[in-house]
Amino acid sequence: MRTPIIAGNWKLNMNPEQTTEFVEAVKAKLPDPSKVESLICAPAVDLDALRKAAEGSNLHIGAENCYFEDEGAFTGETSPKVLNEMGIDYVIIGHSERRGYFHETDEDINKKAKAIFANNMTPIICCGESLETREANKQEEWVVAQIKAALEGLTAEQVSSLVIAYEPIWAIGTGKTASSDQAEEMCKTIRETIKDLYNEETAENVRIQYGGSVKPANVKELMSKPDIDGGLVGGASLDPESFLALVNYQD
Ligand code: PGA
Repeated sequence: MRTPIIAGNWKLNMNPEQTTEFVEAVKAKLPDPSKVESLICAPAVDLDALRKAAEGSNLHIGAENCYFEDEGAFTGETSPKVLNEMGIDYVIIGHSERRGYFHETDEDINKKAKAIFANNMTPIICCGESLETREANKQEEWVVAQIKAALEGLTAEQVSSLVIAYEPIWAIGTGKTASSDQAEEMCKTIRETIKDLYNEETAENVRIQYGGSVKPANVKELMSKPDIDGGLVGGASLDPESFLALVNYQD
């Protein structure tokens, strides 16, 4: 059985003080982690505060990006080795904002996935098509190609343990959620792709999130779909009450 995982992606929001206040407001009200895993992915500058505030609670903590080298002359990058030393559990990679604004390629994302595993953390690999690609009805081949490239060279065991986030770009921050059927359809395609690349067991184990204007009002419907195992949530994860409503969607 796959444990659902609801993750906040704070993007470039919040400072350490706000991070601590947020965690104080939510930490006693998070669901049993065997029922729903609660995760906040925060900017690198907030991670120390996040880890300290979340200590002893059911909140998992993640970074929003990292580099694929542990150390060296890479000015401005974040080391996966140090993220692991800090006690970070997850790292988001391949978010469409990183692919778009910072020109990250499928090859970078694959290298990052390997570096994250080498440092004992779990990647959350994002994929998703633009509006133009969907209007041309090419979304499936687009997303399947992203998944194949991101997973290149990873073992079945690694793929079993990672998280994939399907985030159609046209639904991010726009208030325009994919319908639960559209989201399910793509998450199912991703699972089938993993079955073809690996095997049935790996496909059954991998957790697939939907992301793009997820909010308390639509989370239950999305989570009722058989191939949707969680949400990656931007805007609606910034407010403690809203985050609690998301992670406690089963109540
Ligand atoms: P949104 O962002 O929930 O604000 O649409 C989702 C994401 O980009 O991960």
